[in-house]
Amino acid sequence: MRTIFLFSLPTLLTVASAYCPPTVFLLAGDSTTASLSANGGGWGDGFNATLVPPGVCENHALNGRSTKTFIDNGDWGRLLESAASFSEKEYRVFVTIQFGHNDQKLVDFEEQFKTNLKAMVGDVRGKGGVPVLVTPLARRNFWPNGTLNDILSPWAGYVREVAEEMKANSIDLWKESKRLLEAVGETQARRIDLADGDHTHLNHAAEKVFGRMVADLLVAELSERGRKRLDVRCVVGRNETMSREIKKGVMSF
Ligand SMILES: *[C@@H]1O[C@H](CO)[C@@H](O)[C@H](O)[C@H]1NC(C)=O
Ligand SMILES: *[C@@H]1O[C@H](CO)[C@@H](O)[C@H](O)[C@H]1NC(C)=O
Ligand SMILES: *[C@@H]1O[C@H](CO)[C@@H](O)[C@H](O)[C@H]1NC(C)=O
Repeated sequence: MRTIFLFSLPTLLTVASAYCPPTVFLLAGDSTTASLSANGGGWGDGFNATLVPPGVCENHALNGRSTKTFIDNGDWGRLLESAASFSEKEYRVFVTIQFGHNDQKLVDFEEQFKTNLKAMVGDVRGKGGVPVLVTPLARRNFWPNGTLNDILSPWAGYVREVAEEMKANSIDLWKESKRLLEAVGETQARRIDLADGDHTHLNHAAEKVFGRMVADLLVAELSERGRKRLDVRCVVGRNETMSREIKKGVMSF
């Protein structure tokens, strides 16, 4: 009996560590998260492409949305319904929340932006999900000296403030996308524009790179040692080559 026990313990541990809970990522955001279209294109579908079963993703992001219009048009309500139904089915539910590009265009909206984000964090928690605040994808307008002239910087700051206050998970996509864009430079950054003069949206090739960037940031944020409940490594497929390129500041296409 004793021998059998010693034999089977490692087997049990192997089985336990191989278990991967069904996991869903629900993406809330504007055109810089949304599926590719005539006037929008973000990282959402590129992120989806990094997932492996039992990981799934619903991209709820829509062109032109601010936190205000996403809530007012019922998009947020629909996302929450989906969150609740996945929770019921015993999925781990992660909700990424990335706004700012359109909130920025609203007059005196800074405080309301933070209020909306805080409410969203609370709503997701209320449905048994894990909110992940995402700072906005950087715009690709360069100064002559090669640094980004990105007026979204303060908005990235508001997102960080809310994450801290609400003790919510967050990833700094603004900072990381700015770093990569400044490393590759303006000429190469122009190659990922959705159309001539569109320095905001991503074309198909770029959607994969920034989708991978988000995947890597999420793994780093959620999969720390000892936080097994949030560990997403078993549902995020890897591409070591691309991850290394992003770290080194290279876009090889
Ligand atoms: C995500 O990828 C899967 C598998 O390739 C696909 O079936 C699904 O439609 C995609 N979902 C989105 C939101 O793009
Ligand atoms: C680049 O130019 C901008 C605009 O003049 C300036 O604000 C910024 O500090 C400069 N950055 C560097 C690193 O020189
Ligand atoms: C992995 O990344 C490399 C480098 O960016 C890319 O060429 C390749 O297509 C990627 N592989 C897959 C399976 O996506």
